[in-house]
Amino acid sequence: MERTLCIIKPDGVRNKVIGKIVSRIEDEQFTILGMKRIRLTEAMAQDFYSIHSERPFFGELVDYMTSGPVVVIALEHESAVNHWRTVIGATNPQDADEGTIRKLYGKDISENVVHGSDSVENGRLEISKFFTETELIAQR
Ligand code: RTP
Ligand code: MG
Repeated sequence: MERTLCIIKPDGVRNKVIGKIVSRIEDEQFTILGMKRIRLTEAMAQDFYSIHSERPFFGELVDYMTSGPVVVIALEHESAVNHWRTVIGATNPQDADEGTIRKLYGKDISENVVHGSDSVENGRLEISKFFTETELIAQR
C-alpha cells in the first residue's frame, strides 16, 4: 500500500472545512493512518518546502504555512499519491477541475487549502517528519 501526506493548511482550518475534507478523504477510500492538529514553526515550514527556497514566493509561503494551526494527515491508498493529487486538484484553484478540494475551498495560488505529496518517496519522507512509525495505525 502506498502512503501520502495531506496537510489541511491554515486557511482550511480557519475556514472550518476540516470536517468536509476528512469526509472527502473517507469517501475516496483512503485509510487515515494518523492525524494531528499542530502549528508549524518557521523552521518546520522552511524545511518542509525547502525545494522552493529559491522561489520568489518562498517567504510568503512560509508566512502562510505558519499563520495558524494545520492538520497533518497520513493517508494510505492503493494509489495514494496520484489519487490524492487528483482529489485536491491543480495548485491554482482557478485552474482546478470542478469538484476538487482546491476548486471548492481554495482562494488563490497562494492559499489553496491542502497539500499533497508529489511522489511516493516524498510521501514517506514527509510523513516521517510528523509521525513516528508507531503512531501510524493501519486498519487491518
Ligand atoms: P503542495 O506542495 O502544497 O501540495 O502544492 P503543489 O505541489 O500543488 O505546488 P508547489 O509547486 O509544490 O507549491 C507549493 C505551494 O507554494 C505556494 N505557491 N505559491 N505565489 C505563487 O506563485 C505560488 N506558487 C506556489 C502554494 O501554496 C503551493 O501549494
Ligand atoms: Mg508540492
